[in-house]
Amino acid sequence: MADKLIIFDTTLRDGEQSPGASMTREEKVRIAKQLEKLRVDVIEAGFAAASNGDFESVRAIAAAVRDASVCSLSRANDRDIARAAEALRGAARPRIHTFIATSALHMEKKLRMTPDQVFEQARLAVRFARQHSDDIEFSPEDGSRSDPDFLCRVIEAVIREGATTINVADTVGYAMPEQYGEFIRMLRERIPNSDRAVWSVHCHDDLGLAVANSLAGIKIGGARQVECTINALGERAGNCSLEEVVMAVRTRKDYFGLEVGIDATQIVPASRLVSGITGFVVQPNKAIVGANAFAHASGIHQDGVLKARQTYEIMQAEDVGWSANRIVLGKLSGRNAFKQRLSELGIELDSEQALNDAFARFKELADRKSEIFDEDIHALVSGDHVDA
Ligand code: KIV
Ligand code: ZN
Repeated sequence: MADKLIIFDTTLRDGEQSPGASMTREEKVRIAKQLEKLRVDVIEAGFAAASNGDFESVRAIAAAVRDASVCSLSRANDRDIARAAEALRGAARPRIHTFIATSALHMEKKLRMTPDQVFEQARLAVRFARQHSDDIEFSPEDGSRSDPDFLCRVIEAVIREGATTINVADTVGYAMPEQYGEFIRMLRERIPNSDRAVWSVHCHDDLGLAVANSLAGIKIGGARQVECTINALGERAGNCSLEEVVMAVRTRKDYFGLEVGIDATQIVPASRLVSGITGFVVQPNKAIVGANAFAHASGIHQDGVLKARQTYEIMQAEDVGWSANRIVLGKLSGRNAFKQRLSELGIELDSEQALNDAFARFKELADRKSEIFDEDIHALVSGDHVDA
């Protein structure tokens, strides 16, 4: 059987860190229920110690979700971890996700701690977290910019203390795909107890590489968990897009050889829900969930798709929750697409000549109007057709 790729959704935690995307507790529970329907494996519900509101949201999601693990983020200190554990008490499968920065820059300038102090704090945090749950994730923040020797030391120690997932964060989206994949592979090879944990990728999109980096971490590095968000929501330029990474692994199963447990038909409903709640509009040309992702405008493409959809579709719109693909009628459309739309509208013209005349009128109109709608077609042919 193929290995499984664990889908860890952080829309409600890192996604909410998008400026302007904050959500109420009720909204978060609605999204969590949709994520459960989507069959994500882990839902990061929030950061329980960040505020009372976040604590209550994590608690409400822990109570509402049964089919996915529910996770809370916490810094690597006892107070945060205890708060996360308390918020997760009602969860069917609680996960505590603790993190601390490991890059020289973050340790010196932000934490003002020595590497030895960070090492000790990470180790003790995981030890303490293990008293509350068997499912502990540890993230070296800014991991991709950390010194490899130091990172190996920290990760080996936290696995020894019981961390079950190691999440190598590319916190500022600095990594390049091959480099990030190789970095994870190197860590897994060098750390003697590395196979006692699941390796995870967490990428930000500052250079537009979050999905590419995540896929390289999976393919080259052997990661088996990917952290992602609906509509790529997230801090600054966003996180790795769930819809893109899932459909890449699924569509190119021949390349990745991995299973994903997602019900992909719930992707578009999830995207719409998140967009509606946050007010973050999805760009029309966004892969998978953009309005144009399965729309064909060129006559050559339309003709191909009408003959065999695989000519210009590597996935089907229905597979990800759209009701159908879309043939957009406009100035680039050909006679075949026009004829097909007449037939879908139940319009029969009584001769080839009538069809040719209607098509000529259609082209004329299309030069003036970017998209021709069904009402336009009805108006174009009124008087010279019979309704079928
Ligand atoms: O980007 C990051 O480093 C994070 C960690 C908390 C995992 O979101
Ligand atoms: Zn992040």
